Amino acid sequence: MSERSRYLPRRSCLATPGSSEKFLEKAPTVPADMTFLDLEDAVAPNEKVAARAKVVHAIKTLDWGDRVMCVRVNAWDTVWTYGDVIEVVSGAGERLDEIMLPKVQDAAQVVALDLLLTQIEKNVGLPVGHIGIEAQIETARGLINVEEICAASPRMETIVFGPADFAASIEMPVLTGGVAIPEYPGDHFNYVFSKILMAGRANGLQVIDGPFLKVRDLDELREFAQRTRVLGYDGKWALTPDQAMVLNEVYSPTQEQFDKAWDILDKYHQATEGDHKGAVMYGDEMIDEASAKMANKFVDRGTRAGLTRSTEN
Ligand code: GLV
Ligand code: MG
Repeated sequence: MSERSRYLPRRSCLATPGSSEKFLEKAPTVPADMTFLDLEDAVAPNEKVAARAKVVHAIKTLDWGDRVMCVRVNAWDTVWTYGDVIEVVSGAGERLDEIMLPKVQDAAQVVALDLLLTQIEKNVGLPVGHIGIEAQIETARGLINVEEICAASPRMETIVFGPADFAASIEMPVLTGGVAIPEYPGDHFNYVFSKILMAGRANGLQVIDGPFLKVRDLDELREFAQRTRVLGYDGKWALTPDQAMVLNEVYSPTQEQFDKAWDILDKYHQATEGDHKGAVMYGDEMIDEASAKMANKFVDRGTRAGLTRSTEN
């Protein structure tokens, strides 16, 4: 299923505390593209071990539909990582698509997870390579090494940012993670977003923005999420069902963009195949092969989001 989930949409990635039966039961009803059951920071230290069985039970017994199913384990600098991975992957079976590894510092940490996953898959009879890896960048060292992290394993499907831990790691003087800083003239994370995006795309990964912690302010979320949507990110974490709904919209092309992309492709194909021209006018714009490539991205993303063309030429 790693192959299954690699290209599925991840516009909204719902965080669900793995220790809470109430939240676990509710999660499948939330229309998020991806759900991750958390064993890390949303779970208190004395609940960590017990949460593993709750997460396994939820994956096996609830109906998760087609969504990407992920579990966030604890980072390698804790005592829980190997136990989390062994118990969850052995117990959850095929429906688990990927493991999210937080606070990844370098490629070796991804390789260590890859090796452990291979042994578990062989032991429990899952196809080797079945479980994908989503690496979370949330430290200065992780960001510096993001290129090698993205290239560290064929299991890598996704690279995701963790703004709260990251702010702490770089000693940014903020008390709320992943929100705008009005005193800063511009986007204080632009460099970070861009660096993660380049590393992810250079390795064919999906690239995801982290949480927006002002959960009641949906307008501000919508505005803040534009920063990574416009750069080209695939989606963002959702902490509530309402956030998921906003993000599904923000990270989908609009109907107008989707239709325009199809129109450009029609015009371009007619020009190249019918009229043997490489560049042609579309309204008052000149379009060529690169325009067709851009349009194809909108068509792919819109199709994944369930859009259909509303106008035919
Ligand atoms: C998420 O894990 C974050 O640290 O922002
Ligand atoms: Mg974090």
